[in-house]
This record gives sequence, structure tokens and C-alpha cells, in this order.
Amino acid sequence: LWTPAQIIEDQIERVREQVGDRHVLLGLSGGVDSSVVAALLHKAIGDQLTCVFVDNGLLRKDEGEQVMETFARHMGVKVIRVNAEPLFLSKLEGEADPEAKRKIIGNTFIEVFDEEAAKIEGVDFLAQGTIYPDVIESAASKTGKAHVIKSHHNVGGLPETMKLTLVEPLRELFKDEVRKLGVELGLPYDMVYRHPFPGPGLGVRILGEVKKEYADILREADAIFIEELHNAGWYHKTSQAFAVFLPVRSVGVVGDARRYEWVIALRAVETIDFMTARWAHLPYELLEKVSNRIINEITGVSRVTYDVSSKPPATIEWE
Ligand code: XMP
Repeated sequence: LWTPAQIIEDQIERVREQVGDRHVLLGLSGGVDSSVVAALLHKAIGDQLTCVFVDNGLLRKDEGEQVMETFARHMGVKVIRVNAEPLFLSKLEGEADPEAKRKIIGNTFIEVFDEEAAKIEGVDFLAQGTIYPDVIESAASKTGKAHVIKSHHNVGGLPETMKLTLVEPLRELFKDEVRKLGVELGLPYDMVYRHPFPGPGLGVRILGEVKKEYADILREADAIFIEELHNAGWYHKTSQAFAVFLPVRSVGVVGDARRYEWVIALRAVETIDFMTARWAHLPYELLEKVSNRIINEITGVSRVTYDVSSKPPATIEWE
């Protein structure tokens, strides 16, 4: 029988054997998989691990701070934080097509990561949070068995110029096992059991062209929604929940004045496998509270809608 503690011991031994006294680089995203790899490798090889955390300006509210707090300050992991928000936003300027936006974000990530990696001397290994379903998915897409609907950049985005050997300690594990490892390694529960967040981040939750103004509004709206889901005990009853920024102007009346302001859509789903999903039947009182807070607290938003579409056909993300 495998327990999380045994898997950790086993992987620590394997990593030490593979790496020896050499150095490992890891792209830390703040997601569960790369976080667990960071904690595991830190335990195995300490300062021989350097993490690069790319802040693309499309993260959730306070996410960058939380990553630095947990890993750098709390655990003593070597983390380089790159503020790449201006670069990502300038590359995205004028682009409204969802798949083109995904490509830009993915390519810019590789570019930034590559540049940071080149500054670190003596790195021989690249660690990745590849888990078993990723292995299956990328194998299937290579043989053409799976129809690749969206360009995910989690697997296989390794720049060819970086001749690094891969370290993938989670390759044989399923998500629930990875989470158990995370808890065992002492990562915060909220980090380990957080809803999934797409690689392109808020980039695919701002419909059409991405702008800093939109991202800032969306971050605030999303934080309010998530906070109220937690307060109402609904966060863990949903599989994924988030706000979406709609770049349309809808009318709001304040006193005698008509204001044309942005619209925020709320999406919350229940799903087992993310291939099909049912919209979450959130209580009206909860929706009312979230709506009131978003409209009262965020300048520029005067309308909130709730998405009552199931997948299929409506994907979980709006783009
Ligand atoms: P959809 O929107 O296709 O989403 O129903 C299914 C799951 O995949 C996530 N998703 C992505 N994850 N890069 C990612 O890493 C992407 O481009 C991407 N698009 C969707 C989505 O958040 C949901 O969990």
C-alpha cells in the first residue's frame, strides 16, 4: 500500500540519485502540480533547486504575493520572481482571437523563462509538474487519438535550445494523489485544494482584447466572488468558479444619470472530469450578495450576470 509519506520518501531518493550535486530549475506557477514539485524538490535537494515564477499580469488577486510568501519566505525555497506584466500586455495588445492569445501567452512565457534560465549558471535539469493524465493526454494527441481542442501549454513547451534533462517526480500520479502529497509536504490546504486555473490565466477570461484596466477590474470581481463562495461554504461544493470580464457597455442609472459600464459574468460549475459540467445551483442569496458587492465596490461595473449554461456545448471558460 502506498501512502503519501512513502511516495515522498521514494521520490526524494530517486531525485537525489538522478540529480546528484547538480542544479535543477523549476517553473513555479502557483498551481498545485508545480507547487508540490517545488516542495518535494526543496525537501530532496534544498538549495540545488531554483524556481522561476513568471508574473504575467494575468494572475488572480494577490497570487504572486502568496506564492512568494509560501515558498520564499515560509519554506526558504529559492524563487526568482519576474515581473513580466508589461511585456505580456504589450504582446497581447490588439489581439482579440482566443487561440492567438493563448499562443502569445504561451510563447511569451517560454521566452521569459528561457531568458531567466540563461542567467542562472550551472543548471542541468528542468523539473516539471507533469502528472499522469498529462502524460496520457500528450501521448494520445501525438498519435492523433485525441482531438486537441485548445492549445494547453503545460506539457511539451520546453524550448529546444535548453538542453536540460527532465525531472518529473509526479509523472505516475493522479491529481488526488498529488494533493495528498502536497498536504503531507506541509503546503497550505487552500493552495492544495484550490480550483484549477488555466495557464493563460485571466487572458482567456477577458473576452477579446486584453487590457490592464480590464484585468484589474476582473481580479477584484473574481476575488469578491471567491471570498463569498468561501463564506457561504460553497467553494468546495463547486469544481471551478470565477468571474469573466465582458467588454460591453451596459446602462446603469445612478440618480438621474445614465452610465454605460462594463459587465461581469459569474461562472461556477460542478464536474468530475471537466469534459462535461453542470452549472452550479448557487443560492440566490449568495448570488445577490456577490452582485451587490461587485457593483458597489468596483468602479466601472454596473451589471452582473450568472452563467446558466452546461458543458457541452458551453465550455467552462468563456474563450
Ligand atoms: P474548457 O473551457 O475547455 O475547460 O471547458 C476545461 C478545463 O481546462 C481549463 N482550460 C485550460 N487550462 N490552458 C490551461 O492550462 C488553457 O488554455 C485552458 N483552457 C481551458 C479550464 O480552466 C477547465 O478547468
